[in-house]
Amino acid sequence: MRPYVVAGNWKLNTDVKSAAELAMGIRDGMQGRHRDDAVRVVLCPPYPMLGVVRDAIAGTVIGLGAQNMYPEDSGAYTGEVSAPMLRSVGCTHVILGHSERRQYFNERDAFINKKAHQAFAHDLVPIVCVGETLEQREAGVTSSVIDIQVRQCLAGLTAEQVRRMIIAYEPVWAIGTGRTATPGQAQEVHAAIRALAAELYGDETADALVIQYGGSVKPDNAADLFMQEDVDGGLIGGASLKPDQFLAIIAAAAERSGS
Ligand code: 13P
Repeated sequence: MRPYVVAGNWKLNTDVKSAAELAMGIRDGMQGRHRDDAVRVVLCPPYPMLGVVRDAIAGTVIGLGAQNMYPEDSGAYTGEVSAPMLRSVGCTHVILGHSERRQYFNERDAFINKKAHQAFAHDLVPIVCVGETLEQREAGVTSSVIDIQVRQCLAGLTAEQVRRMIIAYEPVWAIGTGRTATPGQAQEVHAAIRALAAELYGDETADALVIQYGGSVKPDNAADLFMQEDVDGGLIGGASLKPDQFLAIIAAAAERSGS
């Protein structure tokens, strides 16, 4: 059985004090619950807050993720952060190719692919984001857009790596808009991603691949999304900044997983 993975992408929010409070709130709310493999939780604060969040969740099963990284170990890349740095601060995961990075920082699939290889080289689990824009959905090209993004972002990865990674399907039109994909729309794309993974890597790898949904996931729609066969958790933005909402989303995943 695939685990459910619920990750909180805090984006450009919090400071040292509020990040510690948020992490402690989530930690305390999870105590004694969901300490099994069926639901995994990852917190992805901004870089300067990684240390304080790491300390808040020390000794728990909660994972620590970054929101981006640069695909070189070190060197003259002012302002960038490397995979070894993320490992040294305690990261287990890294979000790559988020649509906001694609949109505002011009990131392209080949660059995201390079980062995915770099993440594996340093034992970080990449959470690779894909998703279509509203124009693309309305033009009826969603499936080809996702197909190209997945193929290019996964290029050269081994089956063993793909079994360990996470793909997050985040329709751009659903991010921060309150306009969630319907469970059926999400399932359709998730199933297509899994079918593509099967074509590229075989059924066993496709079955093991965790595919999260992201885009306006809230406590009141999480259960219906997680009910879909190929939706293996969520990448949560706004609702991950509110402990009670994030905990409710984790509880929805736990209920679905039967844990
Ligand atoms: P929202 O949950 O705020 O729509 O953000 C989703 C997202 O972009 C997570 O990476």
